[in-house]
Amino acid sequence: MRSLSIPVFSFLLVMLLGVVAPANGSPHSPGPDAMKRKHGDGGGGGDGDDGGSGSGIPTVDGAKNAVCKPWYAIRDAIMGGIYHGRCGDPARAAVRLAFHDAGTFSLALQAAGRPNGGADGSMLVDPNEVLRPDNNGLQNIVSLLKPLPAQFNVSPGDVLHLAGVLGVLACPGGPAIKTYIGRKAPKNIAPDGLLPNTNSPVKVLTDRFADMGFSIRELMALIGAHTAGKQRFVNLARAQSPFDSTVNIWDVRFYSETQSSSVAAGTFRLPSDVNFSHNATTQKDYNRFVGKQDNWGREYADAHEKMSLLGVDKSTLTDCTEILPQSIDLKDLSVSSSNSGKQPTDPVIDPVKLEAAIQKYRSIWL
Ligand code: HEM
Ligand SMILES: *[C@@H]1O[C@H](CO)[C@@H](O)[C@H](O)[C@H]1NC(C)=O
Ligand SMILES: *[C@@H]1O[C@H](CO)[C@@H](O)[C@H](O)[C@H]1NC(C)=O
Repeated sequence: MRSLSIPVFSFLLVMLLGVVAPANGSPHSPGPDAMKRKHGDGGGGGDGDDGGSGSGIPTVDGAKNAVCKPWYAIRDAIMGGIYHGRCGDPARAAVRLAFHDAGTFSLALQAAGRPNGGADGSMLVDPNEVLRPDNNGLQNIVSLLKPLPAQFNVSPGDVLHLAGVLGVLACPGGPAIKTYIGRKAPKNIAPDGLLPNTNSPVKVLTDRFADMGFSIRELMALIGAHTAGKQRFVNLARAQSPFDSTVNIWDVRFYSETQSSSVAAGTFRLPSDVNFSHNATTQKDYNRFVGKQDNWGREYADAHEKMSLLGVDKSTLTDCTEILPQSIDLKDLSVSSSNSGKQPTDPVIDPVKLEAAIQKYRSIWL
């Protein structure tokens, strides 16, 4: 743990000089000068109006809402200090963490007035929660995020759910998800036994998501987060196997490969995902996203936003979407195809263009 004076100093630096302070002392965090020099002027909020100028990373100088000002530095602490600007293991773990924090919410428990889960950051607070078998694999990302609430004097729920949003954006193709600030400290450790098991029947899983407040259509959109995921504990002999053949891209390849009659080389498919792709009830909504990057990007962003607010009173929060870097659009990165100038719907990505885009939009954090 760091002494209190350093975060206070960082905070003052942000407020007084209007620059982004080095986030958490990581050797990978660029200093204030580098940040200022390399920041572009455009972009922001993932609204895609950067027009190719600048880095697409909004700076605190252009902050619109005073409540959001401290969050530029927290953004850099996570996207730079922890993810290094990449769709790597910490980013994918943070997306799963957002689900495991929020996914303990239950409408039934709420109606009964019993202790509930929700998007409250309890995973960063109670050490017993992350030690549950359901949360195997999340211990590392939890220990990386855990110091930030005290360091920046903000709530664990806000840090954890910003980390989830940034985890999606770190992956090329990941959409901007509306980002809210102002969650209160968690009231209790999340109730146990509420997170879904991959070996459960489809009915059990759709019922559990309904109890969180999600329709089957929203569940089919959310499950696509496995596009950037790997398994470690379902099949130990195949640990680190990704769920699709393009694990470092936020694309719809997951949907087609999971439904396919043959398993893509080197990938591992979760039984629950395979079942969703064939079950007569879930398949209709599942198929909305097969080969449909644009459909999925929009619907995923809405469903993830809803997930990040489970059990939280949105009317008490502030919209700080302004801090988000621009998302990387896969359309610009596809291998040129012969289909008469039309973009492929399930883009095949050119690795050279992909790396150039990562360098362009994420360079201050790499
Ligand atoms: C029916 C619902 C779901 C089931 C049964 C399920 C199950 C699993 C399992 C078994 C793993 C592998 C864990 C391991 O062995 O390391 C996993 C990983 C993952 N899940 Fe899910 N999941 C579900 C829904 C979701 C949702 C809604 C999200 C996010 C929106 C999500 C995001 C992820 C991510 C990103 C990973 C990869 C983590 C990493 O690579 O570190 N999952 N999930
Ligand atoms: C789900 O898939 C597994 C294996 O792929 C299968 O054994 C099981 O019967 C399926 N369950 C349901 C309810 O469809
Ligand atoms: C398909 O999913 C629906 C909705 O959960 C469920 O009622 C049904 O039993 C499932 N079908 C099979 C064969 O598992």
